[in-house]
Amino acid sequence: MYPASDGEQGMELFRRENPTIILTDINMPKISGIEILRIIKKVSPITQVIVCSGVGTTSDVIEALRLGAGDYLRKPLSTDLLIHTVIRCVERHDLILERIGRKENLEREVRERTAALTNTFYKTVKALGLLTEKRDPYTAGHQNRVALLAMGIGRKLGLTQRELEIIHVAGLLHDIGKVAVPVEILVRPSKLTTPEAQLMKEHPQVGYDIIKDIPFVESLGKDVSIIVLQHHERLDGSGYPGGLIDDESEFESKILGVSDVVEAMSSHRPYRPASDIAATKAEIAEGSGSLYSPECVDACLQLIEENNDDTQRLFEFLAKVGRNG
Ligand SMILES: [Fe+2]
Repeated sequence: MYPASDGEQGMELFRRENPTIILTDINMPKISGIEILRIIKKVSPITQVIVCSGVGTTSDVIEALRLGAGDYLRKPLSTDLLIHTVIRCVERHDLILERIGRKENLEREVRERTAALTNTFYKTVKALGLLTEKRDPYTAGHQNRVALLAMGIGRKLGLTQRELEIIHVAGLLHDIGKVAVPVEILVRPSKLTTPEAQLMKEHPQVGYDIIKDIPFVESLGKDVSIIVLQHHERLDGSGYPGGLIDDESEFESKILGVSDVVEAMSSHRPYRPASDIAATKAEIAEGSGSLYSPECVDACLQLIEENNDDTQRLFEFLAKVGRNG
């Protein structure tokens, strides 16, 4: 117990000792009991303040209780009543502490479960993406690199973390529809016949059909399947499957479109060697405004140039930055 002879001393003791219970008279020198109650409840709502007075009016009682006093006792104090009030205030203090502890535990549990679910979500998305790539060793890692490059372009364009996550997931899944293309067509080292090329062109629609029921809107705030559906659309309507023009397709699809071309041209395929960086840059620069979104092209060229026109270095840089960069 720490006795104080005036309000100021009482406040000093409170700051130093942080007691569970404070017993104060209303009429205190320097700082009144009501003022002490007001200050303490503001900085430490859990502290129990018992106010007492021999001359207090009904409005004093109401004011004290309104400010959160643990109780109001009239003087002269009855020892029995004081002990009973102190016990009740200690119990209330402990109950509040317990409730705070339970709330914190619950919040921690929600945080941990959300993190685990997010992890499961991304691992599942990656596993789905691998389904396609396992069938075609030449495109191993293609979707991951497209996803990384698309995020790099998105960052250059000032997209939010949430928008970058949408692009990341869309990138990881954009070619999932190729599971419906026979392996011999996927890995054919020669040019495809017209019907085979047509079958290949169905992969955005097949991909859309596969993932359209995943509730991406609930988890990411946007339907990723639409972005996958549109990743081969071009500004002038020459793309597929919809032949959509400029603003008919999602901005994320335009970012993916540029990333997809750059990654594909930078990689070796059974039917052609990898293009050199000058040809890759020329492809997107020449198609800027007609096939590809100019701002996506500019951002991509900037990224390439910042990495000394070296795509291997570019993808190493993007991998290092990763998903949360
Ligand atoms: Fe594709």
